[in-house]
Amino acid sequence: MAAHALAARGLAKRYGSVEALGGVDLAVEDGELVGLLGPNGAGKSTLVKIACGLVRPSSGTAEVCGAPAGSRPARAALGYLAELFRFPGWYSADEVLDLHQRLAGSAGGEKERRELLELVGLAEARGRKVDAMSKGMQQRLGIAQALVGGPQLLLLDEPTSALDPAGRRLVRTLLEELRGRGISVLLNSHLLSEVELVCDRVVILARGRVVAAGRPSELARPRGVEIDTDEGVRHFPDAGHDEAPGLVADLVAQGQRVYGVRVLSTTLEEIYLSAVGEQTG
Ligand SMILES: Nc1ncnc2c1ncn2[C@@H]1O[C@H](COP(=O)(O)OP(=O)(O)OP(=O)(O)O)[C@@H](O)[C@H]1O
Ligand SMILES: [Mg+2]
Repeated sequence: MAAHALAARGLAKRYGSVEALGGVDLAVEDGELVGLLGPNGAGKSTLVKIACGLVRPSSGTAEVCGAPAGSRPARAALGYLAELFRFPGWYSADEVLDLHQRLAGSAGGEKERRELLELVGLAEARGRKVDAMSKGMQQRLGIAQALVGGPQLLLLDEPTSALDPAGRRLVRTLLEELRGRGISVLLNSHLLSEVELVCDRVVILARGRVVAAGRPSELARPRGVEIDTDEGVRHFPDAGHDEAPGLVADLVAQGQRVYGVRVLSTTLEEIYLSAVGEQTG
């Protein structure tokens, strides 16, 4: 059986008296895009840093493509974008990627750098200094940096927090394209609508523990059917997807005109808020 891109088992981490992770199981399959959600301080970055080998767990194990986290093969298999990264301001985009090619031992050369800058919409900015880039441009450069050397697993810690709507869409499209190539992604984010659009599965952490996990559609609960008619919006709270055509037929038979039908379910935001108990850290 092929190894998971990422497999964490019973992962726990204490920083002195602070319990950052209290026994977390999490797997990212090959080609899967998993969203890791949770309030500030829930332990998301700690988990990602353990996967990178930057933080040692107090107990439990983490493996990347079958190799222990932090080992050379594990590090070679992953690309990482840290949450509060800064590249040297005097480097150009191209120089940042060149530096990371050397750090990662990538032989991709100019061709890889050009392709990556194109992928993140920075082809025109390859000679621009980091200091002269907007936050969003730096963040996109950070994503390009994580892709140096063609990793099998991408660990992205809030990669879109500084991006404008067009930049976010670019990253979303990019993530979908990477999934198409079979690359696995663990995406830390607070942007629930974005995660809902792009992730195959979500894992919600609170106070260092998994409080909900699954496909967004599996976690959602039905909330009835809403129908727009010439007499206003009619809400049928107990109806589901299968009842919608019958409801419309009844309304039409009663002489009403129907303009729209919506089968409602809880949004990821509602699922999230009920799973974490609406706490903020
Ligand atoms: N190096 C450290 N030393 C001591 N405590 C730490 C350290 N790093 C993290 N913590 C604590 O561990 C807990 C989890 O932090 P972590 O950064 O993993 O949370 P997070 O889910 O990424 O939060 P955010 O959404 O704010 O980025 C927090 O209570 C934090 O204060
Ligand atoms: Mg974090």
